[in-house]
Amino acid sequence: MNIDYKTYWRKSGLKKNWGNIFLNIVNQHKPKVFLEVGVFCGVTARNICELLNTIHSGQFKYVGIDLFGDKPNEDEKAPNYLKKQSFSNPIKNLFYNVILRENLNSYESVQKFLKSFSKNITLIKGNSNKILKHLDMENIDFAFLDGGHSFETVFNDLNLVFNKISSNKDAIILCDDYEDADYITGVKKAVDQFVKEKRLKFEVIEKRFAKITI
Ligand SMILES: C[S@@+](CC[C@H](N)C(=O)[O-])C[C@H]1O[C@@H](n2cnc3c(N)ncnc32)[C@H](O)[C@@H]1O
Repeated sequence: MNIDYKTYWRKSGLKKNWGNIFLNIVNQHKPKVFLEVGVFCGVTARNICELLNTIHSGQFKYVGIDLFGDKPNEDEKAPNYLKKQSFSNPIKNLFYNVILRENLNSYESVQKFLKSFSKNITLIKGNSNKILKHLDMENIDFAFLDGGHSFETVFNDLNLVFNKISSNKDAIILCDDYEDADYITGVKKAVDQFVKEKRLKFEVIEKRFAKITI
């Protein structure tokens, strides 16, 4: 299968070759029910949907949670890209901010961007630390945690997801930014403490993703 992560002229958290590395991990496991915490502009969501649609001939589910403009947890440093939608490319700036006046990290924009998969997707606006407490996670077999990056937020997300998917067969939790960026230290601390407490196996992929096998 030809794996080719596309950015669709939007912003993505998985730039350059990271998107392909990520899709290859997903492709190895071929999940049928996917959870993404931290949807941002929906680019990774769209790539996941395209891939799972091909693998499972349309029989898959994607659930995505994002603040979509709500306030982050207090211990989170809100990244600049969320404060103001700016683009280094002036044509993109003109197109999205002046002509369309579209905030790409909004619920409406992502819903529209994923409209060809409207039967497969559920998008939820809110704080993952709250949403995950009530979310039905039956059958989720792959959870990608890429929302808040503070120790507290990631540790809570990990525990909330684990408590609900630990009996799902061959389930995987994949965390982004385990050790790729010096300024992000919370993810590594949270994953290390979590796997130690739960005695779980995990693997660090390309010094960036932490893949936890449930
Ligand atoms: C790094 S971006 C995600 C990138 C995306 N996964 C991608 O591959 O393009 C982080 C996203 O997490 C969201 N976020 C931050 N804290 C959150 C929280 N506590 N609950 C839900 N979403 C959160 C932000 O709004 C932002 O869109």
